[in-house]
Amino acid sequence: MTGNTPAYEHETTLRRFVGQVAVVTGSAKGIGRACAVRFAQEGARVVCLDIHDTGNAETGAICRRYGAEVAVIHCDVTRLEDVQRAAEEAMQRWERIDILVTAAGIYTGGLLTEVTLEQWQRVIDINLTGVFLCNKVIAPLLAGCCGGSIINISSMSGKTSWAGTHEYSASKSGVIGLTHSVAMEMAPYGVTVNAVCPGNTRTELVMQAARQNAPRDGLTPDEWLARRASECPMKRIAEPWEIAGLCAFLASEDARYITGQAIEVDGGMVLS
Ligand SMILES: NC(=O)c1ccc[n+]([C@@H]2O[C@H](COP(=O)([O-])OP(=O)(O)OC[C@H]3O[C@@H](n4cnc5c(N)ncnc54)[C@H](O)[C@@H]3O)[C@@H](O)[C@H]2O)c1
Repeated sequence: MTGNTPAYEHETTLRRFVGQVAVVTGSAKGIGRACAVRFAQEGARVVCLDIHDTGNAETGAICRRYGAEVAVIHCDVTRLEDVQRAAEEAMQRWERIDILVTAAGIYTGGLLTEVTLEQWQRVIDINLTGVFLCNKVIAPLLAGCCGGSIINISSMSGKTSWAGTHEYSASKSGVIGLTHSVAMEMAPYGVTVNAVCPGNTRTELVMQAARQNAPRDGLTPDEWLARRASECPMKRIAEPWEIAGLCAFLASEDARYITGQAIEVDGGMVLS
């Protein structure tokens, strides 16, 4: 581990997305911010969508440091009208969308008897319905342009699970199922659709998971996170930029024949 501040930026000389437009949800922090910054570094114009306006403005400022044109838009991914308005704004400004990354998400946990219906519905609404709405609105725009790429952020929890992660795991498995179906529908239009499944990554979300789960195991949040790192074959958690690196690859020309996949970036955690 490299300290407690997430590493969003990573030096690169690649410029794979010059002239393209990348829409990123959940861009105010964490993995979404790292993706927005990576696409900006590589020459894309970036559309940052989040409900957290201050964080989203900060992400926009980081992207501009790399010379990127940026649109910072308040968007709740659970609201169809918000997603439609954001897509319209991007199309009016740049007349194209090439890339969609759906990183907006939340974590809650708890044993089956503790999870409330409201908690279940909130996680499904943001983590799964939000991804559905963004795919529904933006996939036709990608198809109408030039092909393009959708990268839906799932989780290793979409492929395997632990006690007390019912609603989160269900939402993330749902993202993989949705990704398969959208990939099949969009393949004839040259649009690739893949899911990325991160392992524990240094963001506020993983700290939230640590705070919720640690007491059940008699640990402090830091001890819980250190144990998760030690359980990982690579003996560390990921930095946000490491997830963004795969997203950028999947959006690149080198990945034009990869679709319908759910790819882990987890240091070998699911395999172990
Ligand atoms: N951090 C991890 O260990 C980890 C592991 C696997 C998967 N993931 C997934 O990666 C994605 C990003 O997570 P993160 O770790 O960067 O979390 P984070 O908490 O750092 O960032 C999540 C972002 O989503 C935004 N958001 C929440 N609800 C929203 C809504 N309704 N509309 C728009 N934006 C909304 C938040 O404001 C925040 O900016 C999530 O889907 C998460 O499930 C994270």
